[in-house]
Amino acid sequence: MNLDGEFLESLSEARKERDANIAANLQRTIEGAAKKLDVFRYPSPSGIGHPTSKPVALMRDLCEIIGGQTILDPFMGSGTTLVACAKLGRKGIGIELDPDYFDIACERVRKAYDQPDFFVSSPGVPPAVQEDMGL
Ligand SMILES: C[S@@+](CC[C@H](N)C(=O)[O-])C[C@H]1O[C@@H](n2cnc3c(N)ncnc32)[C@H](O)[C@@H]1O
Repeated sequence: MNLDGEFLESLSEARKERDANIAANLQRTIEGAAKKLDVFRYPSPSGIGHPTSKPVALMRDLCEIIGGQTILDPFMGSGTTLVACAKLGRKGIGIELDPDYFDIACERVRKAYDQPDFFVSSPGVPPAVQEDMGL
């Protein structure tokens, strides 16, 4: 191979390496952005009376993302999901094992209906009722 041929070959290799670096950097940038978009950031709630209560705004956003009519939270704890439902005018069903947390949830849902809205002008569903599951 003559000098021109070697030069063109090394130029071609340098371009391939450059393009591979650009592609790798782009991939890392896209993956980094996707990870950031997967993280929801909200202020932590306090004084609710449940050790793992979630922010109402988080549950509101999740309820909106999943769409549909009725939301079921089979582990409702202090009732954050149902508070979000009340504020969105969505029907919510909650199940909670611990009677103390159940009472906290009922009180929070009642208050959510009493304070018409910080999300919608008028909740379109009736207040919560406790149903006997026959257990
Ligand atoms: C992670 S906490 C839910 C917290 C809730 N998202 C909030 O904001 O308060 C899970 C709840 O599930 C309840 N739990 C656990 N096992 C249950 C069961 N088999 N049926 C109903 N509730 C249950 C626990 O008592 C606890 O309050």
